[in-house]
Amino acid sequence: MKGGDVILRFERVSKTFPGVKALEDVTFDIHRGEVHVLLGENGAGKSTLIKILTGVFKADSGRILLDAKEIRPENILQSRKMGIGTVFQENSLVPHLTVAENVFLSRELKNSFNTIDWKRTYQECERWIGGMGIAIDPRVRVKALSVAEQQIVEIVKILSQEPSLIILDEPTSALSENEIDNLFSIVNKLKGEKGITFVYISHRMEEIKHIGDRASVLRDGRYIGQLPDLKAAHLDDIINMIVGRPLNEKFPKRSVQVGEAAFEVKNLSVLKTIYDVSFQVKSGEVLGLAGLVGSGRTSVAKAIIGVLRRESGEVFLDGKKVNIDSPNDAIKHGIAYLPEDRKREGLLLQKPVRENITLPQLHKFRKFGVLSKRMEKHAAHGLKKTLSIKTPSIERLVKFLSGGNQQKVVFAKWLCAKTKVYIFDEPTRGIDVGSKSEIYKIINDLAGEGAAIVVISSELPEILGVCDRIVVMCDGRVTGEMSRNDATQENIMKYAIGGA
Ligand SMILES: Nc1ncnc2c1ncn2[C@@H]1O[C@H](COP(=O)(O)OP(=O)(O)OP(=O)(O)O)[C@@H](O)[C@H]1O
Ligand SMILES: [Mg+2]
Repeated sequence: MKGGDVILRFERVSKTFPGVKALEDVTFDIHRGEVHVLLGENGAGKSTLIKILTGVFKADSGRILLDAKEIRPENILQSRKMGIGTVFQENSLVPHLTVAENVFLSRELKNSFNTIDWKRTYQECERWIGGMGIAIDPRVRVKALSVAEQQIVEIVKILSQEPSLIILDEPTSALSENEIDNLFSIVNKLKGEKGITFVYISHRMEEIKHIGDRASVLRDGRYIGQLPDLKAAHLDDIINMIVGRPLNEKFPKRSVQVGEAAFEVKNLSVLKTIYDVSFQVKSGEVLGLAGLVGSGRTSVAKAIIGVLRRESGEVFLDGKKVNIDSPNDAIKHGIAYLPEDRKREGLLLQKPVRENITLPQLHKFRKFGVLSKRMEKHAAHGLKKTLSIKTPSIERLVKFLSGGNQQKVVFAKWLCAKTKVYIFDEPTRGIDVGSKSEIYKIINDLAGEGAAIVVISSELPEILGVCDRIVVMCDGRVTGEMSRNDATQENIMKYAIGGA
């Protein structure tokens, strides 16, 4: 790396939204050929900065210099022409187009007859996707893919354009260790061989140390400082810079008494997806469901709550068999499922924060049949505070919240529900380090009150930190089970890739 050669400079950039100073006087440099990590809590202003760089938003003041020349892109396409390729935090694929059509959108590969060369298009597509260590058919429509697969297509779409500057805004939030490793090999290769510069945003502390060269930290819209050597930096110091205070216990101690089997799944099968999956969770217990992308963890959850059609399988609550054919049945029986795909399943983006939190539970706020607005607001306020959801008001539409704060709203919605069984699918996806430990504490508290909890997570440290027992899946089957005391990242991975 040519150290100190500045490719991109933010100079006194400010941006205000109604009631929120998203960025205030932000100045820092990004060096050519480095992986520069942008750090900060949920709502710190990271995505806003990227959106200003790419012409999605206009800064109120300040300027951006690319190769020492001021740039003012008006839209993403213009920024793309300047050599900036961006994977945005929100999915930006066209759902009804195929994978290949999305990857090569508006840069179609043509043959000598000036029509699209599909053979080459599919080959190129397969080559790049293959590099991520996963097989996705380039001919399928994007809407048929899982969240993780969509995320991979999104990444491949940008990487394959090989722009000189690549921005990745939480590219790995839906991926598991294997795909992340593969992404990192590609990033290192593009960096090493082509001198491509990366700006990388992530809340996963383990991975940023692994992939990043230098880092800049934002807090409440302000530039806090830089870490000139991420690999040498201490995790505690990094966290301290992000949060503004030391965070002494990331995974709070658990001292919950585990009771009787409260929730049991027997011989659950879904056509071509999951095979004969059985497990039980005791009251007060947190069971982890680990595995790689596509191993079937989310399908298990969806089969339990009746979204996926079961070929076989029974669900027991406190030893009694229950029939669940729809998410409504699940809620009625006291099973709450927090989905991994908050945008598609968990949130009403056009509705205020308050409504999103209380909507499934409105009956709780009725007094003699009349909705008590006061009680409803009180509950929403309480959860906003508990989860430190960053919004100037609970009446703000959810679409205006930062990605991580939207995830907190989904979480709040299910906390408001107070029930017996919780299935949390990637509960801390996109959530910052400080708030993560808040969420772990809440999970502990729910267990302490006797709930049976299933946590699906691709982050192994999280699985190891919050779960009492771990079930590992591979290719739709349970391949291993272990208590927390016996579990290590290595033996979970061993089962996740197929067993002993
Ligand atoms: N279009 C918008 N309208 C109003 N407010 C917005 C808009 N976009 C962002 N904000 C606000 O600006 C602040 C910064 O948001 P931003 O999305 O940049 O945070 P972030 O650092 O990317 O957080 P996260 O880690 O959660 O993705 C937040 O308070 C957010 O609510
Ligand atoms: Mg963001």
